Amino acid sequence: MYTQSFNVQDSSAGLKSVPPPAVENPEAQARFDHKIDADGKIEPQDWMPDGYRKTLVRQISQHAHSEIVGMLPEGNWISRAPSLKRKAILIAKVQDEGGHGLYLYSAAETLGTSRDQMLEALHSGKAKYSSIFNYPTLNWADVGVIGWLVDGAAISNQIPLCRCSYGPYARAMIRVCKEESFHQRQGYEALLTMMGGTEAQKAMVQDAVNRWWWKCLAMFGPPDADSPHSAQAMRWGIKRISNDDLRQKFIDATVPQARVLGVTLPDPDLKWNEERQHHDYGTIDWDEFWSTVNGNGPCNKERLATRVKAHNDGQWVRDAALAYSSKQHNKSLKDAA
Ligand SMILES: [Fe+2]
Ligand SMILES: [Fe+2]
Repeated sequence: MYTQSFNVQDSSAGLKSVPPPAVENPEAQARFDHKIDADGKIEPQDWMPDGYRKTLVRQISQHAHSEIVGMLPEGNWISRAPSLKRKAILIAKVQDEGGHGLYLYSAAETLGTSRDQMLEALHSGKAKYSSIFNYPTLNWADVGVIGWLVDGAAISNQIPLCRCSYGPYARAMIRVCKEESFHQRQGYEALLTMMGGTEAQKAMVQDAVNRWWWKCLAMFGPPDADSPHSAQAMRWGIKRISNDDLRQKFIDATVPQARVLGVTLPDPDLKWNEERQHHDYGTIDWDEFWSTVNGNGPCNKERLATRVKAHNDGQWVRDAALAYSSKQHNKSLKDAA
């Protein structure tokens, strides 16, 4: 998973490891601008403005953090999945999210920031991740709704990123989007199954939709009028479609899916506008969004603590992998001698 709403300021001045500002270089700047204008790709070895590099490091690392923290709310349900089939699907999905984190950390590393530094920023609470993961998964239907709506919103956000001007990020997103599509479908299919079940199961689905709908709309980030950095990100070809346009697209695509599923969406103002050829919708609670982004959501502390513990518990694996690789390296040197 996720989104442009990532690209919010981290709590500190940003990751300190970003290389020093590119010296002013009008010729290189002109080459860079030309490439952006021609819709070309910027690669790690290319000169790039300092602001472009910093924006990408922040966005890609926040995206990577969101993928690995996003494993936690659903991971809680692996041991409680209602059947072996659902368990196998959920394990595969959660594992995919871990993989997305790895591609993205690798893409961010090409900009000169180490993975250790990015993880340190996450674990110390300085770096942000998508606020959607700071809400609890209360019942099994939440797992289906996360697939349908949260991964669905992620796909809407991430498809334009496949055309991002930074090559490693764009290429990572192509594979990520294919996997997100599986995530969205498995969630929707799980919900369809529940909606064919008992009244209690149907009520669980409706309850989960009611709790997640507005939070998913907030995933697209603040309204365009309140997104001061968007114009620059658009100019650089990092962002292709505005927050409000993506949100509208998502709503228009989701309303008919909700109808097929047989659930209502919890917004009395949601209705088709013939003139606009889009759905109108109600007002998002941005105070709640910012409060959660800033650490006061229901699960912020728990998510971070679980993440730090997982990292510390895995230290022996990293030590063993490094020891093995240095042993192999020494052996190959010896063999070559
Ligand atoms: Fe993902
Ligand atoms: Fe996903």
